[in-house]
Amino acid sequence: MTNQPDIEEKTRPDLQQTTLTLARYNRIAPVYDLMEILPERRFAPWRKRLWAMIPAGQILEVGVGTGKNFSYHPAGATVTGIDLSDGMLTRARRQAKKLGRPLDLRQMDAQQLEFPDNTFDAAVATFVFCSVPDPERGLRELARVVKPDGRIVLLEHVRINQPALVGQLMDLLDPLTVRVSGAHINRRTAETVQRAGLAVEQVESLAVRDLVKLIVARPSTP
Ligand SMILES: C[S@@+](CC[C@H](N)C(=O)[O-])C[C@H]1O[C@@H](n2cnc3c(N)ncnc32)[C@H](O)[C@@H]1O
Repeated sequence: MTNQPDIEEKTRPDLQQTTLTLARYNRIAPVYDLMEILPERRFAPWRKRLWAMIPAGQILEVGVGTGKNFSYHPAGATVTGIDLSDGMLTRARRQAKKLGRPLDLRQMDAQQLEFPDNTFDAAVATFVFCSVPDPERGLRELARVVKPDGRIVLLEHVRINQPALVGQLMDLLDPLTVRVSGAHINRRTAETVQRAGLAVEQVESLAVRDLVKLIVARPSTP
């Protein structure tokens, strides 16, 4: 007998954490748009900018939420959207219908994508990897399903490193923000993208003290 988990168990996402994340976003879904009214004024130009970098083609949007990116999708693109939370997806479907966008929306875990390798020309996620339980695993999945010459573009709020005290405060408050909003506030997502083996092309700070970053990567280091 051994206490080591078997190989299959080790390759699965953490079920407990993933279930918790799903429950949190199902709880938040009815009030998400209300919570985001003020921040969205800041986010809207960043979303527009990000989507201007995405070519028409087969696009994967991960963690679509209530569909805040749908109006920015490039004309002529075929977009598949996924989200862990069925509560968020219900609202996303309503938004797609309202905008008259024929999107393929599916409930799926970013940590375990049900697409073959090299399916998409690009993948996009906005404010998602702050809440994916194992972001490195999710990013490796994006790299797998995006074609080798494709792009992975993220918009993420991250931990502030300077002043150090602010970063420490974010660490302290993180367990609370996760419970309340589902999002970690102290993730170092640009570093995680690198650790996942993606080739980072651009990291740009969009907000004061590097709080929000636009991250552009290719699926793998050449
Ligand atoms: C903060 S919301 C952002 C929603 C949207 N992208 C936006 O910009 O408004 C985070 C979203 O990521 C989703 N999410 C979290 N973990 C996920 C996972 N493992 N797989 C897929 N979606 C996930 C949540 O359900 C939620 O809809």
